[in-house]
Amino acid sequence: MAVLVTGGTGYIGSHTVIELFNSGYDAVIVDNLCNSSKKVLERIEKITGKTPLFYEADIRDKNAVGKIFKENNIECCIHFAGLKAVGESVEKPMEYYDNNISGTLALIDVMGKYGCKNLIFSSSATVYGTPKEIPITEECPKGECTNPYGWTKSMIEQILTDVGNADKEWNIVLLRYFNPIGAHESGLIGEDPNGVPNNLMPYITQVAIGKRERLGVFGNDYDTHDGTGVRDYIHVADLAKGHIKAMDAINKKCGMEVYNLGTGKGYSVLDVVKNFEKASGVNIAYKIMPRRAGDVAVCYSDPQKAKKELGWEAQYGIYEMCRDAWNWQKNNPDGY
Ligand code: NAD
Ligand code: UD1
Repeated sequence: MAVLVTGGTGYIGSHTVIELFNSGYDAVIVDNLCNSSKKVLERIEKITGKTPLFYEADIRDKNAVGKIFKENNIECCIHFAGLKAVGESVEKPMEYYDNNISGTLALIDVMGKYGCKNLIFSSSATVYGTPKEIPITEECPKGECTNPYGWTKSMIEQILTDVGNADKEWNIVLLRYFNPIGAHESGLIGEDPNGVPNNLMPYITQVAIGKRERLGVFGNDYDTHDGTGVRDYIHVADLAKGHIKAMDAINKKCGMEVYNLGTGKGYSVLDVVKNFEKASGVNIAYKIMPRRAGDVAVCYSDPQKAKKELGWEAQYGIYEMCRDAWNWQKNNPDGY
């Protein structure tokens, strides 16, 4: 029995494959490599001693995905494959709706045909929009997303909920990630963005390595302790382990479930900069810039539901997240 990991050569997928191997699962990856490298497979092998079976294919290609189910005994699918750049999604909404939504529709259609009705989906805290409560529990209503990327996550959640309601054989876990950062402690795998990073941590590591002159801090007039935006950063290795706990729930036939995966702690942009400087010993030049459109002031989770029901809790703190992000960047200045 194996787990199909869509988007498994990507940032979170690759860390999750390692945790699957560590927990005794077999992993099969499908990825079209639009935002990742095949080199990830060798790195996974170096870390775990195992090479995942890899299919280079687009999940919208039902024949290609069907072939994977025909050739393997897939018990569950962890679905990471999707496009995730917020700004790009505003410029190319059709690409995002097609890739993320058509991709998911094709995948669940093939899964259903092969009788595999166990799915874990990568959702995001972005579905809460401007959160109605802080810390955010899973009871907090979903909100207005500020970009097409966010809407694809929100819509896919709805589609999967409807699928689960219509056919009770499905077990579907929606995992709402907060802000994943950091890298595997080996420094062999990590986040490798194309071009100018959109997210905070890869931008900071690229300033540290000398690729960017300085960080732009988007706004220092928010209602937070130092005026900069507050987020719930979570170590990618902790996040990956959350998927293994979700697999346990699936194995117990959990039906439809939704969980926040965060630490429950909020750090401002300047808190992250300070922690990074401490962990790396490198000074990070920054400049205060105007607010970024679509940003909220504060966003952090209440992670109690995952703790109570899944027995999952984040182990790493912000210092380790910064240390491991830097270790990856330092060892791989140009990514893979
Ligand atoms: P990533 O880009 O590193 O990984 C996604 C992978 O999916 C890539 O390897 C890409 O090549 C592949 N892919 C994209 N479209 C595909 C398609 N049609 N067919 C086959 N493969 C395809 O991104 P990530 O950071 O690892 O994110 C994984 C998932 O988690 C995404 O769905 C993302 O939206 C979600 N998520 C990420 C974050 C974050 O901050 N990184 C936060 C919340 C949710
Ligand atoms: C963003 C996306 C969210 C997505 C998540 C993971 C937006 C509005 N939201 O979340 O939908 O799920 O990434 O991909 O884009 N910051 C700076 N300077 C920078 C970069 C970021 O000051 O160069 C600040 C931001 O204003 C924010 C914090 O750092 O306060 C974190 O930003 P980021 O890493 O982009 O994550 P989110 O905006 O939380």
